[in-house]
Amino acid sequence: MHKRTLLKCLSLLAVYPAVGRSAPQSRTAVVYFSKTGSTQSVAEAVQAMISAELFRIETVEPYPEAYRPTTEIVKDEMQSGVKRPIKPLSIDLSKYDTVILAGPTWWHYVPQPLKTWIETADLRGKQVLTCNSHGGGGLMHTRDDFEAVLAGKDVKLGTHFTTYGGVMKQSPAVAAWLRENGLLK
Ligand SMILES: Cc1cc2nc3c(=O)[nH]c(=O)nc-3n(C[C@H](O)[C@H](O)[C@H](O)COP(=O)(O)O)c2cc1C
Repeated sequence: MHKRTLLKCLSLLAVYPAVGRSAPQSRTAVVYFSKTGSTQSVAEAVQAMISAELFRIETVEPYPEAYRPTTEIVKDEMQSGVKRPIKPLSIDLSKYDTVILAGPTWWHYVPQPLKTWIETADLRGKQVLTCNSHGGGGLMHTRDDFEAVLAGKDVKLGTHFTTYGGVMKQSPAVAAWLRENGLLK
């Protein structure tokens, strides 16, 4: 290689050190709540496909491990309007153009811990996609519930993805969802 061409290549590598080695910095965040890992598998599939950054919402006081007691506690909380406090999420939203919100279905709706985060998040101008993982009920009221909590937040609403349980890392359904929202070629 000519010496001048070699020098040019080296200087380009210094300016763009990441080119050809890793994906460009992600502009997509996935903010999710997941009790048993199914929703997390969707977040991880998205991350594998578009190198999004993942942010998991957790309650200060965790729910029990066991399924049945959790369902009873959640039912009581929903009926009495209790909002179990969540841990602060360390996220700089100015770094993202797109935010994907994902959670399990809890008694037909979006779990309150996820809604609690959305309620205070400044999502103005962002593209927002939504997702629910369910145990057989399908979409139920989850999309409506997302739309209700996002109302007035001035977001560009993308489409919704629903899944029975979890997904594989290379899930064609997740890829199609990302594609229809312009996040994957
Ligand atoms: C409190 C609670 C309520 C639930 N309510 C529903 C429901 O209304 N419809 C449904 O299909 N699945 C329901 N499920 C099942 C979960 O939505 C399903 O297992 C989901 O895939 C779990 O996601 P995760 O592993 O990310 O927590 C409920 C589960 C829990 C713990």
